[in-house]
Amino acid sequence: MTRPPDGPEETRVSEPFSIGETGGTPRRAFLKLLAGGAAGGVLVEILAVAGCGGAAPEGPPTVTLPLEDLPPGTRLVVMLGETPVEVRREGERVIARSLVCTHQGCTVKWREEENRYRCPCQEAYFDANGQPLLGPVSKPLPEFPVTIAAGVVTVATTLQD
Ligand code: FES
Repeated sequence: MTRPPDGPEETRVSEPFSIGETGGTPRRAFLKLLAGGAAGGVLVEILAVAGCGGAAPEGPPTVTLPLEDLPPGTRLVVMLGETPVEVRREGERVIARSLVCTHQGCTVKWREEENRYRCPCQEAYFDANGQPLLGPVSKPLPEFPVTIAAGVVTVATTLQD
């Protein structure tokens, strides 16, 4: 993992969230990053789906986590296969947004102090809703469907149209 160029970062071990696949065995998250920064102190967690053995998945993978573990303002970053996805709660609404730049596929990073995402590759910017602002991008950051039921947030891995 490379360290982002724009701010201090501290790594610590996470409390596990359940990450499962439809019809499969739940998997455990294991890595958590706390993104520092004077302006935000926003919690950023990276949950990696373990690629360990077991039964073959019977459907598209999903990510689930307790809503209570996603307080307003929190930005969780989960890995859906090779795709980093930000899961963010705004009030009672939860948004899951791809962090893959729509220009050439670099990973964008949220910049709390600027209230926008930045792509380090060709210096593109997306607004807080994932819409392109500056640089060589014309498409927004895609979002994944999110459902909340019985206090559990589920992120599907099929991109929304
Ligand atoms: S890949 Fe993001 S600006 Fe080019």
